[in-house]
Amino acid sequence: MSGDRPDHPLTGPNAHLVVTGGAGFIGSAFVRDILARHDGTTITVLDKLTYAGNRANLAPVELDPEQAARLRFVAGDIADPAIVGSVIGSAVDGESGAAADMPFGPVDAVVNFAAESHVDRSILDPEAFLRTGVIGVHVLLEAVRAAGRPIRYLQVSTDEVYGSVESGRSVESDPLAPRSPYSAAKAAGELLVQSYVVTYGLDAVVTRGSNTYGPYHHPEKLIPLFVTNAIDDKPLPLYGDGLQERDWLYVSDHAGAIEHVLRNGASGETYNIPGSAEMANRDVVAALLDRLGKPWSLVRTVPDRPGHDRRYALDGSKLAALGWRNRTSFVEGLATTVDWYRTNEPWWRAARSGDWDTYYERQYGSRLAHGRAAAEISAATEA
Ligand code: NAD
Ligand code: DAU
Repeated sequence: MSGDRPDHPLTGPNAHLVVTGGAGFIGSAFVRDILARHDGTTITVLDKLTYAGNRANLAPVELDPEQAARLRFVAGDIADPAIVGSVIGSAVDGESGAAADMPFGPVDAVVNFAAESHVDRSILDPEAFLRTGVIGVHVLLEAVRAAGRPIRYLQVSTDEVYGSVESGRSVESDPLAPRSPYSAAKAAGELLVQSYVVTYGLDAVVTRGSNTYGPYHHPEKLIPLFVTNAIDDKPLPLYGDGLQERDWLYVSDHAGAIEHVLRNGASGETYNIPGSAEMANRDVVAALLDRLGKPWSLVRTVPDRPGHDRRYALDGSKLAALGWRNRTSFVEGLATTVDWYRTNEPWWRAARSGDWDTYYERQYGSRLAHGRAAAEISAATEA
């Protein structure tokens, strides 16, 4: 089926995307950014609404009648063949509650953001990571294969599939060496996608994005956890020596790069999406505290994440050759992000509900009890 694409671009008038995981952090940015262009694209979001999924992330769309008319929301699991088949295989699905007069045509592309996305939770409870990351991807691929017409598939993957990169930058042809249940499930999902390209001729592309940050990021992750804890003057649990390095990618840049690959990527190819700021965790924390006007004394150094990847770094030449550039500097993106959390307290306080207290105690209770003031560690590091 590769090469047999619809005769219109995959976004724009008459285009219909299925966005799985579209109520999460990056998926919702992708949906918001595309629908806000008012270019006629229609989107079906299929999302299980796990603890990380939140319909409020789509509120800016749902508050605008023109955008809302081009969004269909289906609550469901990508590992459920019945719901996936009904969403991908038919133009309008009665069971999902979509009205018959909605402007949705046949599906042109599936963009799969759905995943359990937090490394620490994958260490505590790996099973859901495998179910969504492997079985879920398989169910999506089967539905695309069964649709009987050309549907492009994009798998949103991660730089973590390369494992820890002590020096240099990962290129797309490097071997996969995942080291956590999360990244192993992501690697398995990617490999399944490639197998469907080779075996069944599916039209599919893969992206490997870098550490992403921005508004609507669940407060379990480093930047939003530390910003929201700091707002409340609570301790900030920095793992190990805090010298692990990540390359930070602003969320709308990540979403834009995914759309660029969806429209321009060659079937069977994988594209790294690097960030714009390779930084040690300590420096990220110092920057966010500076923006908040909060003291370093909030930082506690705590026992490390098991198997903690020391460094990720991506070579972005292949994506650059496809014509994509990041737009947002870390200074600008962090300022926007910190200010968003300051002005959107109801959003992040609601996200710290459900199993939040249980999770927080499991993940941080003992760590914080064994933590030390970061100043002591600075002295130890310098000694
Ligand atoms: P997230 O946890 O914020 O959102 C995940 C979404 O998927 C949620 O809305 C959740 O409800 C939904 N979901 C989970 N399991 C599902 C299932 N079985 N069926 C349907 N929906 C399900 O994650 P995110 O940070 O937005 O990440 C999105 C994707 O990008 C993931 O595939 C992740 O691996 C990848 N990624 C993330 C980053 C990052 O830094 N956040 C970087 C690179 C790649
Ligand atoms: O690199 C891409 C990946 O980035 C994505 O695939 C994942 O979905 C996403 O969650 C993210 O994974 P990380 O493990 O890098 O992100 P996290 O925010 O959990 O941690 C960033 C760094 O901060 C990491 O070195 C661990 C450290 N950290 C994190 C938390 C939550 C701390 O020191 N303390 C913490 O409490």
